[in-house]
Amino acid sequence: MIIKSVATKPYDDQKPGTSGLRKKTRVFMQPNYLENFIQSIFNAIGGGDGKTFVIGGDGRYFNAEAIQTIIRISGANGAAKVIVGQNGILSTPAVSNLIRKTGADGGFILSASHNPGGIEEDFGVKFNASNGEPAAERLTARMFDATRVIESYPIADFEDVDLHGIGKARRGNLEIETVDPVADYLSLMERLFDFDAIRKLFANGFSMRFDAMHAVTGPYAQAILEDCLGAPKGTVVNGVPKPDFGGGHPDPNPTWAKPLMDLMMSDDAPDLGAASDGDGDRNMIVGRGVYVTPSDSLAVLAANAHLAPAYASGLAGIARSMPTSAASDRVAKRLGIGAYETPTGWKFFGNLLDADKVTICGEESAGTGSTHVREKDGLWAVLLWLNVLAKRRISVAEIIKEHWQTYGRNYYSRLDFEAIETEEANSLFRELRTRLADLPGQNIAGVTVNAADEFSYNDPVDGSISSGQGIRIFFESEGRAVFRLSGTGTQGATLRVYLEQYEPADGDHTLDPQAALKAIQNAAYEICRLEAHLGRTEPDTRT
Ligand code: G1P
Ligand code: ZN
Repeated sequence: MIIKSVATKPYDDQKPGTSGLRKKTRVFMQPNYLENFIQSIFNAIGGGDGKTFVIGGDGRYFNAEAIQTIIRISGANGAAKVIVGQNGILSTPAVSNLIRKTGADGGFILSASHNPGGIEEDFGVKFNASNGEPAAERLTARMFDATRVIESYPIADFEDVDLHGIGKARRGNLEIETVDPVADYLSLMERLFDFDAIRKLFANGFSMRFDAMHAVTGPYAQAILEDCLGAPKGTVVNGVPKPDFGGGHPDPNPTWAKPLMDLMMSDDAPDLGAASDGDGDRNMIVGRGVYVTPSDSLAVLAANAHLAPAYASGLAGIARSMPTSAASDRVAKRLGIGAYETPTGWKFFGNLLDADKVTICGEESAGTGSTHVREKDGLWAVLLWLNVLAKRRISVAEIIKEHWQTYGRNYYSRLDFEAIETEEANSLFRELRTRLADLPGQNIAGVTVNAADEFSYNDPVDGSISSGQGIRIFFESEGRAVFRLSGTGTQGATLRVYLEQYEPADGDHTLDPQAALKAIQNAAYEICRLEAHLGRTEPDTRT
């Protein structure tokens, strides 16, 4: 293998965010930009000598080129083997599974998740560690440090590797194995769930629509739902991954998966609607006439997980990210198991899962997962729902209604204010921080503040502290508002305002969420002086 050393200069904007490095595709296509970041990962992990890496992505624009570059740099860093998804395709949970299953030293995932794809849109790179979990903050900090001092990178000089078939190839000391993206993931799902019960459910006429949004889960959903579980052909729609996701946002929420939402609210609705995102780690669940918020979905799945073989002996604990509603905490309390609150981002669940403190975890941003991998997993959530529905034989709407009657309802909504000036966002937070100490006891827009703080997480497993993780305002009415800035955007800043209002088990669960949250929203706007800072009060999206 001929290895060249290429002289380079640091880019100053390669700090990984909530989920890897995410930028406009054209930024990644600049000379040496991707190469610098990949080599900095190798520098941060102590080199690649003799190591094995899994490589795959969601098929978005620049996926194929980036994979060839990563293979060449891996070879130049002395890697012994790379395991690549056929045609460069692997979902995020499938990468996590493959790393764990093959004992690989890590994995590269090419994706900007639910962000749109294309030359004018977004691209991203994530690195996962040998237990399959997203690089922890300690590691991403080392990567960032490495990007700031990089002067050169080595790259092997060989022809593109053909990734169309399945099999093995060799370039010098580097073995390249191309694998079926679905097979290992499917066999993992078969071990977790009662596939026979789900098969019977479909055989008895249960109907479903799965919207793959032209993203990576198309082939997975077709193989699992249609070919293996017997759901009728056509159950999976938009099942062919496209480099630009058909021009849409592959983001499974009521805004971006509107056609699915419209169907589910119509007279023709099937029994279950579901969707997943660009890289297959998010999920949306909709019953006939009822949208299930991700926070509620986590709580319902936790309360019913024992119906699936993998979780039959019970859960060790439940973790949720801080902005996620407290619905799952109530389930944990009733089950007598631990409830953990972590900062936003899947990487914070890894330690809890590794230490067997939790079995199931989730985020309000459509992410749910368990100990089976170290990523959130969209199809896993859909299959667990199917397993629960197959066992309970009642509708999604009935399950939700019963859940609220048992635990109460956490009305919930997230408002996103996108592409705002970074300075505007910073000044809003600066001012908000100075107000926190005085807020308790104050009545604001008709609701009284109980407590206010800036969330800081003390990891119970390794003792590390992550501060500045969002501002929380708790109200006497058992309501809460949370403010934080997105760590995944690629343009300006995105302010997220999370609203929650608890309604007890014997209360009214039939309100429109936006109406139920109006008082908290008014107070939240006033507390952060939203209009004064942003010049607007209408968010770009409300989920
Ligand atoms: C967003 C979500 C967060 C999720 C992340 C990656 O991050 O809010 O829950 O883990 O995407 O999918 P944010 O943009 O808010 O930093
Ligand atoms: Zn994703």
